[in-house]
Amino acid sequence: MLIVGIGGTTNPNSSSDAALRLALDEVEAQGAQVRMISGDLLKNLPMYDPVSPERTPDALALVAAMREASGIIISAASYHGSISGMLKNALDYAEDLAQDERAYFSGIPVGSIAVAKGYQAAVNTLATLRIVVHSLRGWPTPYGCIVNTSSTENGTGVEGAQEGLRLVAGEVVHLVRAFESHATIVSNLDV
Ligand SMILES: Cc1cc2nc3c(=O)[nH]c(=O)nc-3n(C[C@H](O)[C@H](O)[C@H](O)COP(=O)(O)O)c2cc1C
Repeated sequence: MLIVGIGGTTNPNSSSDAALRLALDEVEAQGAQVRMISGDLLKNLPMYDPVSPERTPDALALVAAMREASGIIISAASYHGSISGMLKNALDYAEDLAQDERAYFSGIPVGSIAVAKGYQAAVNTLATLRIVVHSLRGWPTPYGCIVNTSSTENGTGVEGAQEGLRLVAGEVVHLVRAFESHATIVSNLDV
């Protein structure tokens, strides 16, 4: 089982990056493999171009990770009340999975994390992220974790959200296992 984490910003002290790392640590603790696509890669992606098939090595790495993922966790920093342009651009690369047998994020549980300096932006960002995941045919997991960094003087603000971040991770791992077991049962049915 491979869970791919996508998120973070260009900020070297990125809270959305820290939140994603914490969630992926929990995924590993629950026995799955992880691959993180962080701001260091996302910031180098050209604007997604649906016309030209040219892809940079970073873009190919992102698309390969999305293609191989059994589940995904996305951590979005809130920029002006929504997901950042950098993250949206990265998710637009899922268009390269459109012709796959498993198109886009079909059948994949996707955990959502939203990080902002206020609850209003965080909630809106979480909702937007789930709309994007739905559009990509992914399965947003029930619990979405919000990280409010407004009261953070030092650190990233994820300290108070550890339980929620672990819950997001646990639900993604649980659902991947549930989907796999369901597929096995269905394939063994003699109908
Ligand atoms: C361009 C920009 C726009 C932002 N817009 C909002 C906003 O509308 N509401 C809010 O609560 N925080 C906003 N923030 C604050 C970020 O959501 C917050 O600092 C978050 O921790 C950034 O993620 P990072 O720590 O991973 O870089 C904004 C920050 C930036 C840089």
